[in-house]
Formats: sequence, structure tokens, C-alpha cells
Amino acid sequence: MSKKPSPSLQRAASAPFLPTHTFSFIVYCVSKFRGLVLLMLLMETGQALGNILVPYAIKAVMDAVAQHPVGPLLEAFKLPLLILLGITLGEVLFSRASGALLIIMGPRLRQRTNQLLFAYLQQHSPRYFGSHFAGALAHRISETAISVNHTTWSVLCDFWPIAITFAVSITLLLQANSGLGLFVAAWVFLYVLCSYWLATRCQPYAQNYAATRSLVNGKIVDAVTNILNAKLFARLDFERDYLNGFLEAEVQQGRKTFWYMERVRWFQFIAAAMLKIGTIVYALQLWDAGIISVGEFSMSTGLALLIIGDARNLTRRFLEFFEYIGNVANGIDTIVKSHEIIDVPEAQPLVVTRGRIEFRQVNFRYEEQAAPVFTNLNVVIEPGQRVGLVGFSGSGKSTFVSLILRNYQPQSGQILIDGQDITQVTQDSLHQQVSLIPQDPSLFHRSLKENIGYGRLDVSAAEIQAAAAMAHADSFIQSMPQGYDSLVGERGVKLSGGQRQRIAIARVMLKDAPILLLDEATSSLDSLTEKTIQENLDNAMGKKTVIAIAHRLSTIAHLDRILVFDQGRIVEEGSHQALLTQQGFYYRLWSMQAGGFLPEEQLVD
Ligand SMILES: Nc1ncnc2c1ncn2[C@@H]1O[C@H](COP(=O)(O)OP(=O)(O)OP(=O)(O)O)[C@@H](O)[C@H]1O
Ligand SMILES: [Mg+2]
Repeated sequence: MSKKPSPSLQRAASAPFLPTHTFSFIVYCVSKFRGLVLLMLLMETGQALGNILVPYAIKAVMDAVAQHPVGPLLEAFKLPLLILLGITLGEVLFSRASGALLIIMGPRLRQRTNQLLFAYLQQHSPRYFGSHFAGALAHRISETAISVNHTTWSVLCDFWPIAITFAVSITLLLQANSGLGLFVAAWVFLYVLCSYWLATRCQPYAQNYAATRSLVNGKIVDAVTNILNAKLFARLDFERDYLNGFLEAEVQQGRKTFWYMERVRWFQFIAAAMLKIGTIVYALQLWDAGIISVGEFSMSTGLALLIIGDARNLTRRFLEFFEYIGNVANGIDTIVKSHEIIDVPEAQPLVVTRGRIEFRQVNFRYEEQAAPVFTNLNVVIEPGQRVGLVGFSGSGKSTFVSLILRNYQPQSGQILIDGQDITQVTQDSLHQQVSLIPQDPSLFHRSLKENIGYGRLDVSAAEIQAAAAMAHADSFIQSMPQGYDSLVGERGVKLSGGQRQRIAIARVMLKDAPILLLDEATSSLDSLTEKTIQENLDNAMGKKTVIAIAHRLSTIAHLDRILVFDQGRIVEEGSHQALLTQQGFYYRLWSMQAGGFLPEEQLVD
């Protein structure tokens, strides 16, 4: 039902503290609205009392009828009728006041849960996001927030008033006749106990059903994301059948849950019928024996009916309640996990004065069982040096820059920037000083202006345009109908690959960090555009330390130093000319790219 609290949870300091126990989590979300919750409890109490006192008022009316069969009727009925009126009016006012409080608190509670979970989620590592569907995470957050609201309403608007109803009606019955009161009290006690027990047993069914629904959701999101693949392979039928398999599982799980609930309803109906008949028979006997009045007779049957109605409600609410609790537990399970990469306590901001990067005895593998990517890697990149990384696909180039950004944590060894271990500085300061143009840049579905200005939020329109011009993006942006206000589609799909890359370049140029990492930054551009941007990039590099990855060797040939990667090792390094002279790995790569031959003078160089 709910997870045990895990004291060993590692949490980023800037993430909110979130309990991992379901009930504590809900209480934590609601705790901010203590005052409103108290007020709501009061209003619900008033409403429940009003509801329950109706049979009491009817009793007063009936007794008046019995005692005054003749005479001035209005006089006799005045008080009981006034009571009835007061009670009804009170019920209406209390219930609407509670409704108003719900409107004030409901959306705010949902906002708070969403905020808390989102803030917590933000601090997870790239590895976490790599292994969860983005769509599924968003779905989890909103489902958890809705379920926190529902569980809160269940307690405030269902369980609490029902508890009041039971307590008051049993007290009234006990006053009328202790035997009758005890009979109903025993029934209520047993009924609540059984309902609760049955509902907890239903929870695994409900949770499985919810999990299947989430899975189907994930499958649909995946199928929609890949719809172009399905079309290109003419597999639309296949996708429908594939989805049908999961939908069928959902049907089966749904049936299991609903059959179980149906069994619970059988229990409910039989128990209710027994109480109804039992109370009437019992009360009739009491009236017959002259122990209770007509009014007391009608009140007790009225109360019994009220209790039955509420009790039936209660079972349904219990079932729903445990379903929502299950949803919250699922949400906590997915999101409130240890953060893999966090700032150390008292972490200091990184101070980049020169931009020297050093890998010291770095050992890294992605997963425990996976083959190592780097074994005892030692590299020093001098301040202001421009370094090119080349090597076959999968040789570890992107991983190398990922480690500098601390996207992953090496199993051992250190990475130092200007002598500061990157694990000891704040991640924010690290990311402010190191810019990356990734291999496959993705953009926000926001305007081009917002995407380019992302690195410096206070930037002016002119500066954005200047950066775009440097990245050779200004002219294509100007030609778009909405210019800089154009939206780019999810992840930037409305732009061509090369356009997206140019926006990513402009964004980084504007950020102007002292260390620049380029992972195939210009790979999608035609040679002409690439050459122009290259010049601007070279200018923008200025005195920065630059690490540039490229498959097209001509883009990095002019850099100060080239590192050749092969299976996580640096097999050669030196300047372009020096490497050609070595006639090794780099030389072969270069020869192949130059069309199988190199100019004579370069060969002998
Ligand atoms: N997120 C990841 N989880 C697990 N393994 C990964 C992950 N990213 C990369 N790898 C593995 O690590 C190795 C190095 O990958 P990396 O992305 O660093 O190669 P690369 O040199 O950048 O290749 P490319 O030139 O194709 O971009 C590969 O074997 C790859 O399968
Ligand atoms: Mg790569």
C-alpha cells in the first residue's frame, strides 16, 4: 500500500523535502492549508449534524401530531416546524460554505503537489531521464496531484461527515432506547470493519489496474512519438494490433477489479437489508410494548435508513480511497527516489580563471555490468587550448564531454577545472561556466527569441539578433512568417536539422561561457554554411578552452591539438600535421576522408 520510509534517500539540497511514506506525503502536501482544512471540518460537521437531525425534527413533528390529535394545529407544530426549518437552512449554508472552501483550496493544493513533485524531479540525473518516458513522468505528476486532492476530499467530505453521522445517530438511538442503539452500534462497528478490510484487499487489484492503464498510456505515447516510423514501414495495422494486446490486458485487469468490487457490493446490500428489517422489526416490537413513542419509532427507522445510506457510501468511498492511495504510492515510487548526482554540502561555486581541464585516473562505466568506457584516463587540456576529439562511433567522445559536465559520476578518479574538483563545486556554477552544443540539440517549444536568449535571460532583442547572425541563423529566421516569435515545435521539429544546430550555436554564443564543448556542432550543415559559421565560432572561441568533437576531420584540423579516441583510450595526440607525420590511426582516417588519397606534399610532410 505505501512504501516504508527510506532514511537513506539522497536528496539535492535545492529539492523539496518529500516524505516517501504515502500518508506522510499527503499530510505534507495538505499541511500548508491547515486553517482551511479546520474550517472545512467545521462546515462538514455542521452539514452532517443538519442532515442527521432531520429524523429528530420529524420525531418532534410526529410526537406533536400524536399528542395533539385535535386543537390548534399550527400552535402545536410551530416549534417542531421551526426546528425543521432551521436545520434545513443550516444544512444548506454549511454545505455551500464547505463547497466554497473546496474551491479556494482545491486548485491550490493541486498546484502545490505539482510544484513539489516537479521541483524534486528536476534534480534527477540524465541517467534517470534516460530510463523514463518524459510523457509518462508528466502523467505521473498530474495523476499524483489529482489523487492527493481526492484522498483529501475523501477524508474531509466523506469519512469525517459519515463518522459524525454514525456517532450522533447512535447517541440519539441510545437515548431513545438503549437496546436499539446498541443493536445499530454493533452493526455499524462490524460493517465499517468489514468494509475497510474488503477495501484494503481490493487495493492490489485497483493498483494493478492503474499500472496497466499507465502502461497502455506509455505505449500510446511511444506509438504516437514514432508514428512516422510506423508509416514509413507501413506498419499502421501492426501498431493497432500491438496496442490491442495491451488494451486487452487492461480489460482483464479492469474486470478483475470490478468483479471484486461487485462481491463487496453483495456484502453491502445483504448487510444493509438486515439492518433495515432488523431495526423496523425491533422498533415495532418496542412500540408495541409501549416502550417507545410513535415519534421515536419513526426517528429510529429514519436514522437506520440514514445510516444504511451512509454506510453504502462509505464502502464505495473506501474502494476509491485505496485506489487513490495506490496512485499516490505509484507517483512517489517513481519520482521520490534518491538523486544520483548532488552538490556536496558547502559546495563552492566554480571559479574559472584560466580554463585548464584535467582528467586524473578516471575510471568510468555507464552501468555496473557494462564494459568500461574509460580506464585510468589521464588527460590535461591546457588553458585556452582548442582540442579536437576524433575517433570511431562509440569510442567515448560524447561520454568524455558528459563527464566534464558531471552528467555522470566516474567510479573513481577526478576531473579538475582550474584545480577544482568538479564534484566539490555547485552544479549550477559548473553549468554556467561550461557550454555545450550537443550532438542532437533539442529546443523548447517556445519562440526562437526565447530559445536563443535562454543562456542570458536579460538579453536585448538586438543582442539576440547579433548572436543569430553570428550563427548564420538571422536570414532564415527573418524569412519565417513570425520571425523571431516563431514557435519551433516539440524539441524543435519544425526546423531543419541544420537550422536547429544554428539556433543551438547562437544560444551558446550568447551565453559566452569560458569553456566550450562542441559535440558535432556543425555536422548537419552544408560545407559552405559550416565554413562561414566556423569562422564566427573561431572568433567566438577567443581565449576560451574548447573541446570540439567532429567526424568530419576538416572541421577540427586547424585546432591546436587533436586527441584520437579508440575504445575509450587516447591512442594518438598532437597537432594535425604531427599526426599525419606519424602515419597512424589519424592518418588513415584522414586519408579515407580525403577520398582515399592525400595531396602529395601532405603525405611527405
Ligand atoms: N546513456 C548511456 N547509457 C549506457 N551506455 C551508453 C550511454 N551513452 C553511451 N553509452 C555507451 O558508451 C560508449 C561510448 O559512447 P559515446 O556516446 O561516448 O560514443 P561517441 O564516441 O560519442 O560516439 P558517436 O561518434 O557515435 O557519437 C558506447 O559503447 C555507448 O553504447
Ligand atoms: Mg557522440
